[in-house]
Parts: sequence; structure tokens; C-alpha cells
Amino acid sequence: METTVKNKQVILRNYVKGIPKESDLMIITASDPVELKVKPGSAAVMVRNLYLSCDPYMGILMREPTPSTLALLDAFIPGKPIAGIGVSQVIDSDDPSFTKGDMIWGIVNWEEFSTINPAAIFKIDVNINVPLSYYTGILGMIGLTAYAGFFEICSPKKGDTVFVSAASGAVGQLVGQFAKLMGCYVVGSAGSKQKVDLLLNKFGYDDAFNYKEEPDLDSALKRCVPKGIDIYFENVGGKMLDAVLLNMKTYGRIAVCGMISQYHLETRDRLQNLPDIIFKKIRMQGFASYDFIDRFPKFLEFVLPYIKEEKLAYVEDIVEGLENGPAALVGLLHGKNVGKQVLKVA
Ligand SMILES: NC(=O)c1ccc[n+]([C@@H]2O[C@H](COP(=O)([O-])OP(=O)(O)OC[C@H]3O[C@@H](n4cnc5c(N)ncnc54)[C@H](OP(=O)(O)O)[C@@H]3O)[C@@H](O)[C@H]2O)c1
Repeated sequence: METTVKNKQVILRNYVKGIPKESDLMIITASDPVELKVKPGSAAVMVRNLYLSCDPYMGILMREPTPSTLALLDAFIPGKPIAGIGVSQVIDSDDPSFTKGDMIWGIVNWEEFSTINPAAIFKIDVNINVPLSYYTGILGMIGLTAYAGFFEICSPKKGDTVFVSAASGAVGQLVGQFAKLMGCYVVGSAGSKQKVDLLLNKFGYDDAFNYKEEPDLDSALKRCVPKGIDIYFENVGGKMLDAVLLNMKTYGRIAVCGMISQYHLETRDRLQNLPDIIFKKIRMQGFASYDFIDRFPKFLEFVLPYIKEEKLAYVEDIVEGLENGPAALVGLLHGKNVGKQVLKVA
């Protein structure tokens, strides 16, 4: 049996300026072959990566770090593989909690084989009969983001009017459905007709619009939510946030999950309507999913029955082959993904 293998990796060439391009990443085969064993006493786990999650925050980590971005996560290092959430199979382990053959999810490098610190991984219960790729999304960090962001930050009540931007994406599709389960009236925005159709016909949104075809976002919101918004689940920032502020109700809540439209701008949009936060006594809060990691077991208890009973729809966009990773990751920043963007490695 083979004891060493070649390891294909996705490397960051240099810190990125502006919006990341495929050419900012390169595929290499590491010069040193990988030994398929961990060193005794290392407490490490060696895995073969099966699925990698493509996430907007990874674009931020491709930029030169600033004090603000370092408050979120450490940046990637030029010349080294990028990293993110992956689903992997254990090949060897020096940690007694993991044995060969176990399936895990957690932070791994973008490469075929990784040696990882077991503190950053979760064992997958393979008796739960769902596709393994779900642990890059609905049953992992993405699901927790939607759950904690909606239920903990937004304080939803039955009958609330909820607006979600990037509504058909990984997080958005779940937030919209959680809000429907809660008995809310739910409206979403997305960037194509295909995505708007998904919102209305698959995820059960009450109304939706294609923001790229709306000359005036304020009018679009007034058309869809004439009585105003109780909860805004913010995924995009910029002009959408400015228009939403005009349409929030008094004591509205805004969960700031992401602001993808602003991450790679040299000059960010200047908002006009921030005083509405005071006038309407709006509560607006940013959050990161990992702040809620202690809620993970409670989240699984909540979400698994809905998945089993097919009461939650979940759309993935799976691209095959590590060499197609750069295109998949960059495509996300241009709205090319339809649903949760996943890269199948092996
Ligand atoms: N706080 C946290 O812990 C946390 C965790 C996960 C994700 N997030 C954030 O949540 C948001 C959604 O992430 P996701 O993983 O669910 O990604 P996603 O929605 O599956 O994919 C990103 C989507 O953003 C939209 N987009 C891209 N560029 C845009 C622009 N300039 N203006 C407006 N929309 C744009 C595109 O959809 P359209 O075609 O509809 O434009 C694209 O498909 C992101 O802001 C991300 O950073 C935060």
C-alpha cells in the first residue's frame, strides 16, 4: 500500500487588491510528498479532503490584513494554501477521539490531504442519512449562521415582516425558510430571474425581486413591503442597506451577517440614511457564526427533524475538481453560484 502521495494544493500568489481573480490563486503539487501517517505524539489528525466550502469571507482573507479584518480571522499567507471549512475522511490519527475512516468537518487547507489540529474539527455522525456535502453548509457553519443570526439576533415574532438580501444563497435560503417556519411574511432579493424563481417556488418566500433589474431599490421595497420591515437579514450592505433603512419599522432589527457588496471596493458606498437607526430606534448588530458555537447541538436538534421530514429545501451548487476551486470561489463574488457553493475534491 502507498505510504506517501503527491498533494495538490490551491495557493494564494499574493495579497489581492480589488475583487479577487482566478489568477490570484494557483494550483500546485507540493514539492514534498505527503506521508500518510501522523507523527506519534503529535496529537494531530491526517485527513483526505472530500468537499471544500466556498465562502465570501475567504475573499477578505486574500487581502492584506488590517486591524479590522484581523478582528474577524487571520489572513491567508501568500505562497501557502488557502483554507476553509471542509468535509474529510480520517486517514490516520494520533488523537484517541478520531480513528481511521471517521468522517469529520472543520477547517482544512485547500489541498487533497491535510494534517490538522483536532481542536478545530467535528466528527460526523454517518448514521444521519444526509449527503456529506451538507456539512459544508446547512449542517455546519452556514446553518449555524442562519439559525443564530435569525433566532438570536433578530428576535423574530410570528407575523413579523422579514426581508433577506442575497436571499437564495447559502445563508439566505435557510433564513427565509426559518422565517416562514416562524410564521413571518418573508421577502427576498437576488440577482437573477432563476434565483427569484427559486425564492418563490422552492424556498417559499412570499415575494421577491431581482435587485439588478430595479432602477430604484426604495420603490422595490415599498412595492413588496408597503407596511415596512420588522427584520432585515443583511447579507450585502451598501445601497441595499441604505434603501432598507428607509423602509424599516420603528423598533426594527437588523442582523448584519455580511456585506458582500463592500468587501472589495476601494471606496465603499457612503450611506445617506443612517439617522433612521435613531429615528426608528432600530437595533442593528453584526455577528460571526463562531460566536455561537455553543448553540451547535441545539441547532442540530432544531434543524435535523425538518431535513428528515423534507420541510426544508436546500440547494447546492457543486463543482468538481480542486483545479476548478479558484473559478468556483471567485464566481461566488460575482453571483455565479445558485445555492450553496461547494467544491468536490475527491
Ligand atoms: N457572519 C457570519 O458568520 C457569516 C457566515 C457566513 C456568511 N456570511 C456572509 O453572509 C453573506 C452571504 O454568504 P453566503 O455564504 O450565503 O453566500 P451566497 O449568498 O451563497 O453567495 C454570495 C452571493 O452574494 C451575492 N453578491 C455577490 N456580489 C454581490 C454584490 N456586489 N452586491 C450584492 N450581492 C452580491 C450573489 O448573489 P446574487 O446573485 O443574489 O447577487 C452571490 O451569489 C455574505 O455577505 C457572507 O460574507 C457571514
